[in-house]
Amino acid sequence: MIYTVTINPSVDCLMEVENFHLGKTNRASTQKMVPGGKGINVSRVLKNLGTRSEALGFIGGFTGAFIKDELEKESVFSSFIETEGNTRINVKMKTDTETEINGKAQEISNEHIQKLLIQLDELKSEDLLILSGSLPSTLPADLYNTIINRLNEKNIYVCVDTSGEPLKAAMKASPYMIKPNQAELEQLYEENVKNLDDAVKLARKAMADGARHVLVSMGGEGAALVTKNESYKAAVPKGTLINSVGAGDSMVAGFIHILTQSGSLEEAFKYSVAAGSATAFSNGFCSAEDVEKLLPEVLIEKV
Ligand SMILES: Nc1ncnc2c1ncn2[C@@H]1O[C@H](COP(=O)(O)OP(=O)(O)OP(=O)(O)O)[C@@H](O)[C@H]1O
Ligand SMILES: [Mg+2]
Repeated sequence: MIYTVTINPSVDCLMEVENFHLGKTNRASTQKMVPGGKGINVSRVLKNLGTRSEALGFIGGFTGAFIKDELEKESVFSSFIETEGNTRINVKMKTDTETEINGKAQEISNEHIQKLLIQLDELKSEDLLILSGSLPSTLPADLYNTIINRLNEKNIYVCVDTSGEPLKAAMKASPYMIKPNQAELEQLYEENVKNLDDAVKLARKAMADGARHVLVSMGGEGAALVTKNESYKAAVPKGTLINSVGAGDSMVAGFIHILTQSGSLEEAFKYSVAAGSATAFSNGFCSAEDVEKLLPEVLIEKV
């Protein structure tokens, strides 16, 4: 089974407001509530692609119940640990520009963390775990590191998509894969990444620092994959950018979807780029048909 972990999920409230005035009562012309959180996104995209997964992490209160219900409606399995407070609400407001107010993270106690670790101890060697998203500042930055170390003992593949200190700490535990975007890679090594060659260079550094595979995404500029023996670059398909939210999560889902089917890293890379772009070119997340359509346009080059 594939498991995703979202430590700090959210209910995302998306609103469009015409003629927004600060300090006045404004009215939304459209509104939509959706489950948010990167691991949850990965699970939802995996479902679209036809791969079963189970979403883990922490939820609480009526907002947490909403997430559980929405996933159930989409037939995405979940087994969250319930916390006392409400899962946060993130307001994403579209006016002439886009403004976000992210709610305060729910409180996660040491007991909750222990429950998660015990849950993860049940994973078996053929399982795969995806750790996605930031960690609330109240939690230890090495939480992902702790999880990876525990699962490494059973040879379970762990993929990590996070940034900053949690990413640095996670790398020390030799995760199967990390998926930094351009900014995350730059932050990791305090170096500019101007193009895919720079990305490959720093990805190799990340391999020396512990990661076993590095998948780098650079939005519309392309992507790179560095493995033990090979490095690949990909040009992304051309299309109209509609919404890049979740493009990175779709990329992770696409990669895992093919990796678990064929075991080919190159094919998984190609499909991951098509999945990321298919989401970037659509409202919401990509479908399997969207990805298949773009696949022939993804050109992979060995470097
Ligand atoms: N403008 C674009 N044109 C084509 N493809 C895109 C574009 N933006 C994103 N993608 C696709 O999505 C993938 C991931 O994009 P990106 O680098 O923006 O991820 P990210 O920053 O991790 O996103 P997320 O917000 O989900 O974390 C890219 O490798 C590419 O395949
Ligand atoms: Mg990302």
